[in-house]
Amino acid sequence: MKQSLVMLTTSIVVIFLEIAACHSPQTQQPISSSPPAYGGYPNQVAWGKHLVAIGGCADCHTPKVMTAMGPIPDSTMYLAGHPAQVPPPKITRSEIEKNGLMVTNDLSVWIGPWGISYAANLTPDETGLKGWSEAQFITAIRKGKWKGLENSRPLLPPMSFVAAGMNENFNDDELKAIFAYLQTIKPIHNLVPASFPPVSPAPPH
Ligand code: HEC
Repeated sequence: MKQSLVMLTTSIVVIFLEIAACHSPQTQQPISSSPPAYGGYPNQVAWGKHLVAIGGCADCHTPKVMTAMGPIPDSTMYLAGHPAQVPPPKITRSEIEKNGLMVTNDLSVWIGPWGISYAANLTPDETGLKGWSEAQFITAIRKGKWKGLENSRPLLPPMSFVAAGMNENFNDDELKAIFAYLQTIKPIHNLVPASFPPVSPAPPH
């Protein structure tokens, strides 16, 4: 009897403490499970810079300087795309198209069954993304459309695969952050050559 009275008193104290805790100012704060704004970075542009770095965009979109240790990014051409004055390599395209693909050692020219694609200029110059709207950038990635225009041609490999990967892994806020950052980098005038169709007809399935 005495024992159950002690237990009852204890339960009342516990309930009282719980009620008190519920009304304390700390627990009145809404508990949010949403991620921090801008992925924890101080602003949208800083977040975009981080996403571009981990997204490896510069691997293909920044031309390279050749060194004894191989190609390194040309910092004066950051994200400016395949250099306009550099012609595609002299190779037998029909052989490459039939047997696989080839890529130049700066990863800016890709040759395969789709023809030739050149890494695009992503800087805010008129030869790049200047004048693009945020919605256009999202269309380019989400729908895989060149110039981000609904009725333009599909993006070619390897960007078609890169965009597909971005669609799986980046949400709209992340794409917006990438675009916001790309609009702040140094504009570089570089008119990347237009893509080229294949020389050989597509092989039968
Ligand atoms: C493996 C190489 C590669 C990587 C990595 C890559 N790109 Fe590309 N990208 C290309 C190529 C090549 C093209 C041109 C495709 C074409 O002409 O259809 C392109 C085109 C684009 C375009 C379309 C430009 C236009 O004028 O329509 C955008 C936008 C773009 N890339 C953004 C990005 C971003 C952002 C990243 C990083 C998250 C990225 N790319 C990573 C190779 C790459």
